Amino acid sequence: MKKKRIGVLTGGGDCAGLNSAIKWVVKTSLDDRLQKMRKIQYEVVGIRDGWKGLVQPDGGEDSPGSRILTLTEEMVRTWDRYGGTNLGTSRTNPFDPKNDRSKTVLENMERFHLDFLVAIGGEDTLGVANKLYREGVKVVGIPKTIDKDLSGTDYTLGFETALNVITDEIDRLRTTAGSHKRIFVVETMGRHAGWLALEGGESSGAYIILIPEYDFNIERINELLMEGRRKGARYEIIVVAEGAKPVGYSEILKEEGIDSFGHKILGGIGEFLAKQIFQLTKIETRSITLSHLQRGGAPCAYDRRMGRYFGIASVDLIVKEDFGKMVSLRNGQITAVSLGEAVGRLNLVDVQTQYDTERYNGRRTILGY
Ligand code: F6P
Repeated sequence: MKKKRIGVLTGGGDCAGLNSAIKWVVKTSLDDRLQKMRKIQYEVVGIRDGWKGLVQPDGGEDSPGSRILTLTEEMVRTWDRYGGTNLGTSRTNPFDPKNDRSKTVLENMERFHLDFLVAIGGEDTLGVANKLYREGVKVVGIPKTIDKDLSGTDYTLGFETALNVITDEIDRLRTTAGSHKRIFVVETMGRHAGWLALEGGESSGAYIILIPEYDFNIERINELLMEGRRKGARYEIIVVAEGAKPVGYSEILKEEGIDSFGHKILGGIGEFLAKQIFQLTKIETRSITLSHLQRGGAPCAYDRRMGRYFGIASVDLIVKEDFGKMVSLRNGQITAVSLGEAVGRLNLVDVQTQYDTERYNGRRTILGY
């Protein structure tokens, strides 16, 4: 029987559901019955620390020892229950214009006899996968990012678990906000896309939701808050995405500089807004940044299931020799789109149909007003 080797890696920010996807890549590849039907015997190796594992496979100062390890069914049996990624991750960009190490990646694919690659990631990791595909690498992708900003798919791993965190934390905040009659500003992640803030705010019934796709006016927020208090509200919850900004401002940065994919390091809009609101309303206002809590913890049932479906589908693509594709969920069906389509543009909130620009909240109506 023909023997082939599949490498699997997770890159970029971690999230819940990654371990489930890895587990199902391994289980589907090594399944005895399927191997006989396909007449190909697969072996799966885990590549540690994202693309760094193929740039420095022998390890480095931050990780002594090999970054390449054989994965067995027994090893991954329980992985779907755990958050994060058991393979580790990094934001290493082999195509970083300041330090291009893409040739090293290609050489290491040869050195470790990797016939195929499964890259689990967001726009950065899959952007690298797409470039490698154009250089002849037989690669397929699995979408993950709590920001849900990849195109070509209705779901990206980690999103629902992150929404559950937002909803749970806001439930907690409500009791203390009510006791003190305070306004709470809750900052979520979401650099360019407002999905976490929008759908997290909708799930938790937030009074105001602010997203990167629509610049807000602080005076309007003041009006809405005053209107709420006049109607008898004891407290308000405002959910703001880290990439949201007031009209005329640029995003608030946590620190200067950019990462190797050119991203600014965002953070601080919640605190900024809380101060502005207090100045205008004179109502006690507190802010909380949910930050990496949204990426942590055990995956919810949906992420475990989606990790499973995406993991299985990625191996199906390899069997079909349909490379340069990302598995995706479209209208309830598991399918695939080209990596180029997935990373070509970001999937943003459609302000026209999904956002109420008057009340700064979600908008889902079939009536059109
Ligand atoms: O890309 C996903 C994401 O969670 C963004 O929402 C956020 O801006 C960023 O990662 C934070 O990344 P880091 O883990 O490097 O702080």
